[in-house]
Amino acid sequence: MKELYRKLIRGKELSLEEAGKIGDTSGINSEFPIKYIIRGDQYLGSLQYRAIIQNITPIVNSKMNLVAKLDALYWIKKEQENNKKAQQKNIPIIKTIEITNIYNLLERKFIQGLIMERFYGETICKLIDSKYYKRAYNLWKKEISDAKRKNIHIRDIHNENVMFNTQTQELVLLDLVSWEFD
Ligand SMILES: Nc1ncnc2c1ncn2[C@@H]1O[C@H](COP(=O)(O)OP(=O)(O)O)[C@@H](O)[C@H]1O
Ligand SMILES: [Mg+2]
Repeated sequence: MKELYRKLIRGKELSLEEAGKIGDTSGINSEFPIKYIIRGDQYLGSLQYRAIIQNITPIVNSKMNLVAKLDALYWIKKEQENNKKAQQKNIPIIKTIEITNIYNLLERKFIQGLIMERFYGETICKLIDSKYYKRAYNLWKKEISDAKRKNIHIRDIHNENVMFNTQTQELVLLDLVSWEFD
């Protein structure tokens, strides 16, 4: 048991058997391995909705910088599918890793999540009053028209679904769940 908790705290990969010893396992979908741990009290998310929609959360102690998007399996599968399609068409998006079971340390429950890399930057929404806004905005518009040319219908276009890193000038589009690809 001690070894198990040590693994949990360090975010090491757990076997199903080990996870079964932790607590409530009712949420486990055994289709997926259990690897990642979230604290359950830290959320990134939209500025406007952070208090009510707690769906983007950092992974505990991951060597890589990862976040999980938590939602119903149907939606995260859809997002993963669309991310794959967008990547094939060279749209700048955040790299997704996998869908897996995640253990919530606070609630002692498993939940499914889409694991993706953490993007270090700001949503355009937060840059409105900064000197970076014009550059980020122009890049954003350029990516949207590029996507149109590739017959991709971007849905849900708003300034919290795009992030910009002011150091590297990298821009990424997010939240592809309702995009359509011809
Ligand atoms: N990979 C990521 N790295 C860092 N922040 C992220 C990441 N994905 C999402 N976010 C933050 O979380 C917010 C909500 O993410 P999003 O995918 O748009 O979910 P929602 O469906 O709640 O709109 C974004 O506006 C952004 O601030
Ligand atoms: Mg969004």
